[in-house]
Amino acid sequence: MIKNDLYLKALRGETVSRPPVWMMRQAGRYLPEFIAIREKYDFFTRCRTPELASEITVQPIRRYGMDAAILFSDILVVPQAMNIPFEMKAGLGPYLPNPIRSQKDVDQTIVPDINEELGYVMDAIKMTKEMLNDEVPLIGFAGSPWTVFCYCIQGQGSKTFDKAKEFCFTQPIAAHQLLQKITDTTIAYLKEKVKAGVNAVQIFDSWGGMLSPVDYQEFSWNYIQQIIDALHAEAPVIAFGKGCWFALEEMAKSKASALGVDWTVSPKTARALTHNSITLQGNLDPSRLLSPPAEIKKLVTNMINEFGKDKYIVNLGHGILPNIPLDNAKAFIDAVKEYEA
Ligand code: CP3
Repeated sequence: MIKNDLYLKALRGETVSRPPVWMMRQAGRYLPEFIAIREKYDFFTRCRTPELASEITVQPIRRYGMDAAILFSDILVVPQAMNIPFEMKAGLGPYLPNPIRSQKDVDQTIVPDINEELGYVMDAIKMTKEMLNDEVPLIGFAGSPWTVFCYCIQGQGSKTFDKAKEFCFTQPIAAHQLLQKITDTTIAYLKEKVKAGVNAVQIFDSWGGMLSPVDYQEFSWNYIQQIIDALHAEAPVIAFGKGCWFALEEMAKSKASALGVDWTVSPKTARALTHNSITLQGNLDPSRLLSPPAEIKKLVTNMINEFGKDKYIVNLGHGILPNIPLDNAKAFIDAVKEYEA
């Protein structure tokens, strides 16, 4: 039994004394204890070494006491396992020397044996669970097939992911084949994560908002839905789509336990679009953590009042930024813990 089960209760839609809180991308970036590890080990070494991944996962919990931990890893370990050799370049981010641009490239990708290729993630989960000692739940995650696909075709980050879209619209058969392979791998991967001990899984669709509503349905949501359908009986699933408020009504019909929303939609509109039927997670603009702590407290209190304390998980609308002062991150977490209805 997990001692602090606020997050799991919120996912089940149960009444809580206050909503749970965690921050997307809470493990890393802005934390000095993380930066100290980053100076010694490169990115994928940190992901592949269970001692390092588990230590980084619990660092923010130790410092701030969030109501859930998220495993330190990356969405790109999935394509790596599929024979798509991503690197992490300092100053640039994810980099793929030979991006996927043809049917032949798609044919060369594989749907791997998860325990052979990603066993290190399962070891990191088991080690983290021991360190957490059932104090708080552990979240496992994967990128959405569309978001992973974006990096595979573009070969690096982008403001438009124009090459990814071009591939979809000029070679739709090959595009759907790759999306399906990523989906099949992700389903097997998340199932193993649940077996290894994660208490919930979140799907990050960071680039879903790049697509028109019709294309979103075809190239992103159809695949996310397959993942939700395959996983929901085994663990609660949270679907986070950045910039995807236009799809909330459709998303709320799925078997997801919660939907993540960003700051471009008001709590009221998000509740209306989802007919108040599902737990919502979000949605403070991450840049707002640059406001003074007293202002952060007001913003968080208002946000809880607007979403309502039940069926709600306090979070940012996207990952925490690297330049957030430590006291401001603390103000965000503390404001939730001090919340009184
Ligand atoms: O709380 C956590 O941070 C958990 C671990 C986590 C990382 N990446 C570690 C990481 C999670 C949940 C992710 C998800 C991820 N990775 C997403 C989806 C969420 C989002 O932010 O949209 C995406 C798109 C990626 C791909 C990725 N990884 C990019 C674009 C970059 C470079 C830019 C950046 O965000 O810093 C990464 C690198 C990365 N992943 C870092 C960390 C802590 C920073 C690099 C480093 O530590 O050396």
